[in-house]
Amino acid sequence: MSSSRSGAMFVEQLRHVPLLRGLTDVQLADLARTARTHRFEPDQIVFLQGDPGDTVHIILRGQVKVVTTSRAGHEAILAFLADGESFGEMSLLDDLPRSATIQATTMTTTLSLRKVDFHKLLREAPDLSLRLLRALARRLRETGMLVQDAAFLDVGERLAKKLVSMATEAIELGVTVPGSTRVSGPAIELRVTQQDLASMIGATRESVNKSLASFRTRGYLAVGRHRLSILDLDGLRSVVDRALD
Ligand code: CMP
Repeated sequence: MSSSRSGAMFVEQLRHVPLLRGLTDVQLADLARTARTHRFEPDQIVFLQGDPGDTVHIILRGQVKVVTTSRAGHEAILAFLADGESFGEMSLLDDLPRSATIQATTMTTTLSLRKVDFHKLLREAPDLSLRLLRALARRLRETGMLVQDAAFLDVGERLAKKLVSMATEAIELGVTVPGSTRVSGPAIELRVTQQDLASMIGATRESVNKSLASFRTRGYLAVGRHRLSILDLDGLRSVVDRALD
């Protein structure tokens, strides 16, 4: 991890961070003085579940995963967070140890704020507080959905649901592959390992492998190394729809 003090010239960059929109020039200058920037290499741990927490991070560029680990070393991925999103705010709000491990998945740059400066900002910038509360509400919903899926869907159905949601996000970002097999539009490329998929839906890699093989036989997708091509999104959707009926 590299870390550096942010100078006053940093103010312009901070102005464009969505979470900080609406801060006054004085507040941005304060932030530029008190915040630090950090760079993390892919796979580098930012902090571990159980660590004491003294800083909140805003992702300027890159992606991290939020992971919780069992004593036996099994990993469950709670979320991926990217540009403009924050993490590490929970320990600063409830004074408890880190609730999860944060690991960079790509080269990632963050801006960190110490607790005292974060609390000052929350008191002085109601718009920022509201944005943060909105993000926390969304996470609570998503976590509730994970619990619901674990209770009511089997592995294949959870996997289909996760793939549909990842593919929908990829379409929004324009990650399609022109010229590939077409069933209901161009193929959608997902860069993800079977282990990550298993950790995201609370299943074993073996059971994910089995479900992927079944989806492949049905022509819904093609399986590559560290990637999947979704060929028939409607087919995958039908698996989810049947499960929810
Ligand atoms: P903190 O507990 O300080 O450290 C771990 C961070 O992971 C936590 O703050 C949140 O920012 C983030 N986090 C914890 N649980 C989730 C979740 N279910 N979804 C998204 N982010 C989370």
